[in-house]
Amino acid sequence: MLQNYARYPLVVESASGCYVFDLAGKRYLDMISGIGVNALGYGHPRIAAALAEQAARCVHTSNLVYHRYQGALAERLCAMSGLDRAFFSNSGGEAMECALKAVRSHGRSLNPRKIRLVALENSFHGRSFGALAVTGHPQYRRLFEPLHPEVTFVAPNDEDGLARAVDEETAGIVLEPVLGEGGIYPLEDSFLVRARELADRHQALLVVDEAQCGLGRTGRPFAFQWSGIRPDLVVAAKPLAAGLPLGATLFTEQAAQSIPVGMHGTTCGGGPLACRVALEFLAVMEELLPHIREVGSVLRAGLESLAARHPVIAGIRSKGLMFGIQLSVPGHPILLRALERGLWLNCTHDTVLRMLPPFILTREQAEEAIEILDQALADLN
Ligand SMILES: Cc1ncc(COP(=O)(O)O)c(C=O)c1O
Repeated sequence: MLQNYARYPLVVESASGCYVFDLAGKRYLDMISGIGVNALGYGHPRIAAALAEQAARCVHTSNLVYHRYQGALAERLCAMSGLDRAFFSNSGGEAMECALKAVRSHGRSLNPRKIRLVALENSFHGRSFGALAVTGHPQYRRLFEPLHPEVTFVAPNDEDGLARAVDEETAGIVLEPVLGEGGIYPLEDSFLVRARELADRHQALLVVDEAQCGLGRTGRPFAFQWSGIRPDLVVAAKPLAAGLPLGATLFTEQAAQSIPVGMHGTTCGGGPLACRVALEFLAVMEELLPHIREVGSVLRAGLESLAARHPVIAGIRSKGLMFGIQLSVPGHPILLRALERGLWLNCTHDTVLRMLPPFILTREQAEEAIEILDQALADLN
């Protein structure tokens, strides 16, 4: 194995609903859901049925031909997002690459110098070269530089900074409506509206990366929908095929014109198995939206009550079922204590505990998570 991952001391042997079980049969409440991927938990009967049936019928076709589910999924995602076209790939990073290629091609078609990008400090868009270039964490980029040299980073929610950064050489503005890996920082609606206005004024494309915050996670199908804007490009991934690799790049009709026939593609992306399961995921997710908002409020209230009792909690940031618990101390020891007590969450940056629980989390399970976290925090004293 490459030594790139720093893993937690947990071997997952099996899983069911919102719980995973280790080799000894010990149970853990999963509040990170495979970093937002297992949004319907484990063994969801509708996902399991779609998987089994399609696995027996046809898993892969390549994109040389049509199959029944890709167009249907594109139509569904376009209806949900208000965009017009879809391209399917295998990951968030790959979906981002497609968006960045569309932006470059769009800019160059207007002016050869119009290739600049504006992105956010503290953002995360993936590990490939293009996605890394717009990722606002210098430590992820440093070893691999030089990357795309034409990126200006702006502080999240700094509208004046954004206005200063965008000009006639800007081809695209890239945003995460809720910065996920960065520690769960929701962007203000007014910032997204301003980004839309600036993109329009300078003929730039607005790219919204919803790999982590999209597809129901914030209580609406897409997080950008809270602000009322319509982006030119939307990136979706993680939970889309409920654990099978699938990414989607959504385009307005105008943005789609930047990628002519033959100018982009992938072998495995958008196969019949992944697309069929994704259609089932979207149907279940839409039914769960009111529940996501409700259990999100329960968890938020519980975390606020913990913050009132534990001074190491400096603040809670959340939107729907995305939570960042800002600590004044390193999070890793707390995470390990929680794991010992049967609660699995994650640390993003040193001092932020992150929760991305499954959408099917019950009120009782939310309370169980708060209780265990309370004990793990108390263990510190
Ligand atoms: C906002 C965002 N974009 C892109 C990615 C990259 O996705 P993937 O790991 O599927 O390539 C991630 C992964 O965490 C993400 O959070």
